[in-house]
Amino acid sequence: MAIWIPDLSSREGPKYLRIVEAMAEDIATGRLAEGTRLLPHRELAYQLGVSPNTTSRAYAEAVKRALLKGEVGRGTFVRSSGADPAQAEPESLKRPESGPIDLSRNLPMPGFSEQHIRRVVAEIAKDTGLGSMLDYQTDTDLLHHRAAGQTWLARCGVASDLDCIVPVVGGQHGILSVLMALLQPGDLLLAEALTYAPVLAMAARLNLQAGAVAMDGNGVLPEAFEAWCRDAKPKAFYLTPTLQAPTTATLSEARRTRIAQIAAQYGVILIEDDVFGPLKSDKPTPLAQITPETTIYVTSLSKAVAPGLRVGFLKAPAKLAAALHHAVNLSVWMTPPLTLEVASRLIKDGTATEMTKQQQRIARQRQRLVQDILGMAAIPTPSDGFHVWLPLPEGWRADVFSSECARLSVRVSEARSFAMNASDAPEAIRLCVSHEANEERVQRGLEIIAGVLRQKPSGSSMVI
Ligand SMILES: Cc1ncc(COP(=O)(O)O)c(C=O)c1O
Repeated sequence: MAIWIPDLSSREGPKYLRIVEAMAEDIATGRLAEGTRLLPHRELAYQLGVSPNTTSRAYAEAVKRALLKGEVGRGTFVRSSGADPAQAEPESLKRPESGPIDLSRNLPMPGFSEQHIRRVVAEIAKDTGLGSMLDYQTDTDLLHHRAAGQTWLARCGVASDLDCIVPVVGGQHGILSVLMALLQPGDLLLAEALTYAPVLAMAARLNLQAGAVAMDGNGVLPEAFEAWCRDAKPKAFYLTPTLQAPTTATLSEARRTRIAQIAAQYGVILIEDDVFGPLKSDKPTPLAQITPETTIYVTSLSKAVAPGLRVGFLKAPAKLAAALHHAVNLSVWMTPPLTLEVASRLIKDGTATEMTKQQQRIARQRQRLVQDILGMAAIPTPSDGFHVWLPLPEGWRADVFSSECARLSVRVSEARSFAMNASDAPEAIRLCVSHEANEERVQRGLEIIAGVLRQKPSGSSMVI
């Protein structure tokens, strides 16, 4: 059984907090696995040369932050990989109609796709070509699916040859395929300091090293990326330049150009996750268009059309496309031709574009609700996507704020859930306005949050 003893040598601040920060970081990077049993606090105190009072306080704080759970008579265990308590509960993703209001999930608005998909499925059922879709396929079969991908990519602002397009089972599978295909154990993968957490879990599983690139309110800092390139040898940089997850920042053209130059200069592969890109109307040029030879572009129909289709596309530099096709082969043999057929028809006849516009319209409507209820001043980067980034007023700690919201039956996500280094997590939360089907419930949830924002954090909830 692995025994966890944190390395506190490079940390500052009160000892008990150093232990908690090391624990959060090790959980986020996968070094400390879910379900691991920790040493009894007295034993850990002995190992670290600190007082039992310190480790006892650290464990209590870690339980409060939902990093650990204690089971009487069995010991103390790691609760889950850094996810916030609302997300950690095993539960359905069905859109709630009663009970707690869920503003924690970044999913598209429900209810629009069904009629279109019903129509297309009926058309396919009558099609004489159905038989060929039920067979195994090679990369060269069903080229018209890649042609549909080409049309979708063009709408995302990315031009591509058919050979460079790799259909995947959604964006997540696309990212995993890229990491599997192009990085070796021990390679350094960079990501924005606040990022899409599953990518960190993938990196840990593939035994990659991970490095956090610093951000400001406008997204990732090119100079921080360059510093990593000078000081270490990153193999790839995973980033979401448009409607960043979770901060909503969209990188300016100037930052994009600079990042593209740095990547080309140091030979770093850019993995551009643009799953939210289709929602943005005035979207800057994708990195894949600025520097096509160094960027792998990841797009998906999940946010704009329907996540259950599980269809996405990678656009790779010509020299890397074969390796990506191979990774898809290895992982799933092929992206299911039937769902690709549904997606292709929706793309080709323009329905996918209409569905995207519908998502945009409702997202904007709900974003206006956010501004009306929380006030423009609370939201540094008004967004036209599904999520909202809310830095908390002075004195609030994000875990305490989210617990207070949960107590009032509203679920939100803390910045810590997205932080590569838990100690860098700002006191901020992410709200998502699209998961709830009913706008009145969103409104009620936002009003409750506005009420919490008006409260003064009590003494015990102050940041120390
Ligand atoms: C930033 C980001 N990238 C990728 C994905 C995965 O997308 P897909 O559903 O297409 O796999 C998500 C899903 O929430 C996401 O938020």
